[in-house]
Amino acid sequence: MCGIVGIVGKSPVAERLVDALKRLEYRGYDSAGVATVHDGVMDRRRAPGKLFNLEKKLDGEPLAGLTGIAHTRWATHGVPNETNAHPHFVDGVAVVHNGIIENFSELRDELTAAGAVFSTQTDTEVVAHLVAHYLKAGMSNREAVLATLGRVTGAFALAVMFRNDPGTIIGARSGPPLAIGYGRGEMFLGSDAIALSPFTSEITYLADGDCAVITAEDAEIIDFSGKPVSRARQISQATAYVVDKGNHKHFMEKEIYEQPEVISHALGHYVDFSTNRVSKVAEGIDFASATGLAISACGTAYLAGLIGKYWFERYARLPVEIDVASEFRYREMPLSPSQAALFISQSGETADTLASLRYCREQGLKIGAVVNVTESTIAREADAIFPTLAGPEIGVASTKAFTCQLGVLASLAIAAAKARGTIDAADEQAMVKHLAEMPRIMSRVLNLIQPQMESLARELSRCRDVLYLGRGTSYPLAMEGALKLKEISYIHAEGYAAGELKHGPIALIDENMPVIVIAPHDRFFEKTVSNMQEVAARGGRIIFITDEKGAAASNLPTMATIVLPNVNEIIAPMVFSLPIQLIAYHTAVFMGTDVDQPRNLAKSVTVE
Ligand code: AGP
Repeated sequence: MCGIVGIVGKSPVAERLVDALKRLEYRGYDSAGVATVHDGVMDRRRAPGKLFNLEKKLDGEPLAGLTGIAHTRWATHGVPNETNAHPHFVDGVAVVHNGIIENFSELRDELTAAGAVFSTQTDTEVVAHLVAHYLKAGMSNREAVLATLGRVTGAFALAVMFRNDPGTIIGARSGPPLAIGYGRGEMFLGSDAIALSPFTSEITYLADGDCAVITAEDAEIIDFSGKPVSRARQISQATAYVVDKGNHKHFMEKEIYEQPEVISHALGHYVDFSTNRVSKVAEGIDFASATGLAISACGTAYLAGLIGKYWFERYARLPVEIDVASEFRYREMPLSPSQAALFISQSGETADTLASLRYCREQGLKIGAVVNVTESTIAREADAIFPTLAGPEIGVASTKAFTCQLGVLASLAIAAAKARGTIDAADEQAMVKHLAEMPRIMSRVLNLIQPQMESLARELSRCRDVLYLGRGTSYPLAMEGALKLKEISYIHAEGYAAGELKHGPIALIDENMPVIVIAPHDRFFEKTVSNMQEVAARGGRIIFITDEKGAAASNLPTMATIVLPNVNEIIAPMVFSLPIQLIAYHTAVFMGTDVDQPRNLAKSVTVE
């Protein structure tokens, strides 16, 4: 949701802090700020909007100092303006925060009654006031922070800096991730290893309930009661990757076109292309004895899970219980240790998904995690990690991570079917062979459909509403297409089961709302065509996404027909993802929205 970073350095830190924020901007970009302490003076620069605005401000008004903290924000409390931008200052205390202080309102009332004057609408400001309050009461910096941690509830990763002690930063974690980085004669603190990667690869992830007292030489880790705890140091795999857009206009476009390459990496981890068999890594969960599989995720990752449900149930005859993570644990569905659980998350830090994982852990289920960031919290708390190997995904709208999630889920479903004896060796080899052909087919499709995209985008950019329809695994894909379009073009869109059209949504059909129908020539094709006839009969305009067989079999009038190669059903969702991603991308470009960082969104939502 937000990104925080701190340095207790041996050289000026302001610019390095801003560079680290650039690696955290995917977490949120409503506003940003940096504060340093130097010669007994604590000062800050803050700016609304993108990091570029903060950089411009610093160019004009540089900040000195060898110790500093910085923050990029996705607003939870208080409008995203300069006043509400972190770091927050109160009487020589500076705080940056990622998360939500759930009891901030009562603490604010209590502190106001004690004479505190608040200057922002944020929940974070109560932390700065509380620390300052305890310092005034005579506590040391460490005692004041621990006393504060004993009062606040909610999810938080914090960094606190003091005017009276320029050589120390105190960090604390309860929920959102926080890592210490070990330098030579300087130390670092950040929301994730990616932010710290330009400074060091030697890191320690704090656990929930940890507090770190960081000086230039080292870090002392204690729990919230002040008792020392020890945490392992590890070498981070996060590189100081310099992710650039290459010759693409946006990261999203680059990541769409990277898919054939990255999905072949992902598949290479799960299947043996020389024998067309699934490899051992897919056996991280004992599917043979599992009585069922619970799947939980959010957003696009949830829709990948929904497609996976079709595969696990159809091929492995494994019953799947799936729900969006924000609902999953509150339904109190009957779960048993004989079931397995799978959590899908690109970032591996989504709070709702992590909470569902912990709920299943309490129920005694074996936990698998399909993640793109293998050092993430979700990965660290799983029994079996299934990396998607998509590489860093910078565009907030997920594309390559989604199709890699599907590649991993397809491999796991085949492994489950093999383990449960519902497919034989010949079936396994045939299915794996289709997966092996997928990257080449995806490459071909990307070149094939590109020319149609811009004219389609022009048409769609004039619309207020769009309906996506599909059956079988094309139904979650219809929802994904709608999610892509609405999250980057801000056009309202809905994905619906095509068979449900006649149960209500057909009332929406008129010439103003395009209907995008996703229909490979599979066992549902004829039924979907009849739904298209219902649309056409009411003057609805259809964008038909099908394959060569489908195009030959239907002579219905359409606004546009996108013809893909005929593909096997197990790779159809990945291949048919490409037109829906490109339709959303080009429409957003036409609309002039911020494709890589759409308004109000964040790449990783680390609050519930
Ligand atoms: C994807 O296009 C969205 N930006 C969003 O729905 C995302 O999939 C969701 O927030 C889950 O994120 P995760 O995969 O990092 O858990």
